[in-house]
Amino acid sequence: MVQKRRFSVDLDHIQQEGSENPSTPSILTPSKAKYFRRQFSEQNFDEEIIINRIDDEEKEQIKKPLLLLINGIEKLPYKIADINLAELGRKALSMAEAEMPGVMRLRKIYASKKPLKGVRLAGCLHVTAQTGVMIETFRALGAEVQWSSCNPLSTQDHIAAALVKAGIPIYAWKGETEEEKLWCIDQTIYFADGQPLNAILDDGCNLVRVIHEKYLHLTSVIHGSSEETTAGITKLRKLFKANKLKIPIINVNECVTKSKFDNNYGCGESLIDGIKRATDVMIGGKVVVIVGYGHVGKGCAKSLSGHGARVIITEIDPICALQAAMDGYQVMTMAEACKIGQIFVSATGSTGLIRGEHIMEMRDMAILCNIGSGQTEIDVVWLKANAIKIENIKPQVDIYHLSNGRAIILPADGRVVNLSCAHGNPSFVMSNSFSNQILAQIELFTKKGQYAIGIHTLPKILDEEVAMAHLDYLGVKLDKLTPTQSAYVDLEPCGPFKPDYYRY
Ligand SMILES: NC(=O)c1ccc[n+]([C@@H]2O[C@H](COP(=O)([O-])OP(=O)(O)OC[C@H]3O[C@@H](n4cnc5c(N)ncnc54)[C@H](O)[C@@H]3O)[C@@H](O)[C@H]2O)c1
Repeated sequence: MVQKRRFSVDLDHIQQEGSENPSTPSILTPSKAKYFRRQFSEQNFDEEIIINRIDDEEKEQIKKPLLLLINGIEKLPYKIADINLAELGRKALSMAEAEMPGVMRLRKIYASKKPLKGVRLAGCLHVTAQTGVMIETFRALGAEVQWSSCNPLSTQDHIAAALVKAGIPIYAWKGETEEEKLWCIDQTIYFADGQPLNAILDDGCNLVRVIHEKYLHLTSVIHGSSEETTAGITKLRKLFKANKLKIPIINVNECVTKSKFDNNYGCGESLIDGIKRATDVMIGGKVVVIVGYGHVGKGCAKSLSGHGARVIITEIDPICALQAAMDGYQVMTMAEACKIGQIFVSATGSTGLIRGEHIMEMRDMAILCNIGSGQTEIDVVWLKANAIKIENIKPQVDIYHLSNGRAIILPADGRVVNLSCAHGNPSFVMSNSFSNQILAQIELFTKKGQYAIGIHTLPKILDEEVAMAHLDYLGVKLDKLTPTQSAYVDLEPCGPFKPDYYRY
């Protein structure tokens, strides 16, 4: 049965009013409304070109910013905190570009070929300087792009402003509510010409989840999604296992040049930055408990102990626990660690790790940080329900006073501290992750139909290319396999140098 849907387009200009108050999102007001309506079938939706049946004058007008009403949702050209921050944002983007050799190399190689022409990419990932450089690279490669953030606290408002100024529809501002975050994601489903997205870049399965829950009929026009994080992949695996996944996924997190770098070295640096900006606390000498000794936990432990912290690890996996012990850390249960830790860092991608029973045992003024995923690694709901007083110290830092007379410091409301209280992982390491994202999008689009519904990884050779693209910048030179060595170890001199199962 062909289902009919209503679709309205306001062809008139809309004026943008920069907000005077930087904390208030800019608002857009429509001038005279004039609606173009048509009915169309979902079955041939991707073939429909909305402007085919209108005259030339209206075609000209349709190129201007549009106000769309899609399923009753008003589509704005963008929504950010303050467009006046654009100049500041542009400077930050230039600095990030200089530290992102891999992404800039891809921009240079592919800009003339435009391999992403025809891609309507909706992204849902922290709006930071590094993401901005990636977004502008997607545009240079021919894609149309619009973006929301996967985290209500991580948007860098000056970057959002610079991107909007460059004509990119961004729907994100720092301090969104959960409801506003979902509204922002909804804004990225359809583009200004009324066409829906046909590609996704996701962090934490936020956008893919919305598509599967609310826009299932669009999955047939989506080439696929590239997922950034461990936590997102966990959710996608569940979806796939339940036979509910409807699009191909490239697991970017699984690239060696992503999880062994961004998660490890990146979080190692940005965790400290987040803790310091939130609390100004001295790390040297403190007892720090890290929950989870995976990629992120390893990087955080190394970096914290480098600052002189006495690090304790809690784990559930015997292999990771053994690694932690052999790296020289104490390993114990949370029931023991909660009594002695002064700073706690959850880094698992799981839920309910630091709970009420642990919190009540903690020392006065213990700091609870999360660098894993979402907001449930620390039981923030319990804290809110059981605190006798919640004292806001500054944006993104609260002190919870407990009935036992002690207090707990909670940065970022339990969300990722590195992106909420600081600026996230540094550009150089994100250049690795985002080079993989760009290659994943090129794979999905240029090989559409070749990736089955499911979760895939990029070929090892691309991973090696991403690493190679970052060596020059560091002044690193490689030795080359001699013909004798090449024959002896049975490897081509140009790689791949390791089998897929190699663990690094
Ligand atoms: N904030 C950031 O910038 C950032 C960057 C990368 C990844 N991440 C997120 O960090 C989280 C961890 O990523 P990863 O790559 O290290 O994953 P990982 O799978 O390598 O490591 C997670 C570790 O947590 C351990 N763990 C699980 N449940 C536990 C429990 N109850 N107690 C103790 N340990 C437990 C697991 O055994 C595992 O070793 C994910 O949610 C990921 O999405 C955040």
